[in-house]
Amino acid sequence: MADEPIIHRGLDGVVVDTTRISKVMPEINALVYSGYPVQDLAEHCKFEEVAWLLWHGELPNAEQLAAFEVEERGQRELSADLLAVIHKAPRRGHPMDLLRTAVSFLGMEDPAPEQEDALKNLQRSIGLLAKIPTMLGAFYRARKGQDFIAPRKDLSISENFFHVCFGRVPAPEVVRAFDVSLVLYAEHGFNASTFTGRVVVSTLSDLYSGVTAAIGSLKGPLHGGANEAVMRMLLEIGDPARARAWMLAALAEKRKIMGFGHRVYKKGDSRCPTMRKYAVQMADLTGQTKWMEMCDILNDTMIQQKGIYPNLDFYSGPAYHMMGIDIDMFTPIFVMARVTGWTAHIIEQLGANRLIRPLSQYTGPGERKVVPLIQRA
Ligand code: COA
Repeated sequence: MADEPIIHRGLDGVVVDTTRISKVMPEINALVYSGYPVQDLAEHCKFEEVAWLLWHGELPNAEQLAAFEVEERGQRELSADLLAVIHKAPRRGHPMDLLRTAVSFLGMEDPAPEQEDALKNLQRSIGLLAKIPTMLGAFYRARKGQDFIAPRKDLSISENFFHVCFGRVPAPEVVRAFDVSLVLYAEHGFNASTFTGRVVVSTLSDLYSGVTAAIGSLKGPLHGGANEAVMRMLLEIGDPARARAWMLAALAEKRKIMGFGHRVYKKGDSRCPTMRKYAVQMADLTGQTKWMEMCDILNDTMIQQKGIYPNLDFYSGPAYHMMGIDIDMFTPIFVMARVTGWTAHIIEQLGANRLIRPLSQYTGPGERKVVPLIQRA
């Protein structure tokens, strides 16, 4: 009998390719983007600098950053057609579905989306980074019956997000906490959505198709959708006094607790301490202390009972809630950030492409003869 193939379900532990973009080191709970620890980037850089780093492999100098910001800010406007599509989208639709549609539409507006050269793809990536917040703001307001607010060129990406959604820029501490979350969400190796994007463009499909597919992949609650699920869980618990009993009951029912666990990190997520620090700042600023109290109890109970640690979504969810953002916008915010990592990977994939096409082991019936329809019982 031929040797049975080794099956790696969920591609667990499989190294598929090389990348220069980031390195996840689960053994020491560390994540670096082009050599820089993510927590250092979060403390010392704004999101725009990190976007540039992911695309170019180096942090920008002041001149490069200024030129990049001018380019990005100049591309925030949407066409009248795309705005009309957003305004006609079903109000009850999820903003992730809106983004999936809007990015796909943007691809159709590109006169030659299949042109694969790296410079063109970088320009498209900057365009996506610039336009996604405008798409989100337009939908956020349209479904509340509010007028569209045009993006502003004098605001950073984070400030502009609040401007296009709420018509005002909040306190600097809030903008800073939001910006930190974007830095932490920007990139994470061959995660499911990034890998989805790489698979799509490995067929020499276009960048927009890769990003559209990646958005669909990120939406799932086992991936990006977890930050929304965490907040729904905290609202369901409602009170820190109930948190431990809730967790024990959920574990007894063998429920998956959102915001805990990770395919790669098994001893803690390197991004958590930074996000928790900024979530605590949001609690201090808003006086909404109960969410972090609940988080701490859930964290301690889960580690004690199952030895499973929280992931970034566990703290970003309540942080966004305290900023006053609707829950179903949390995963779209993840898109705003991760589009930088996705597109860096898409450009990298196309730079040394090989079609991604794994094998499977067949477990269906053995070979048999086709019985003509007329003779089938
Ligand atoms: N709640 C309860 N149990 C969990 C858990 C969670 N969040 N995450 C993992 N476990 C348990 C599994 O049930 C399994 O237990 P078993 O061996 O008794 O069956 C064990 O831990 C191993 O988990 P496994 O499902 O093999 O881990 P994975 O690497 O396939 O899954 C996730 C990783 C992220 C899909 C998983 O941890 C999960 O679903 N987490 C919740 C969703 C989430 O927060 N996603 C965001 C990730 S950044």
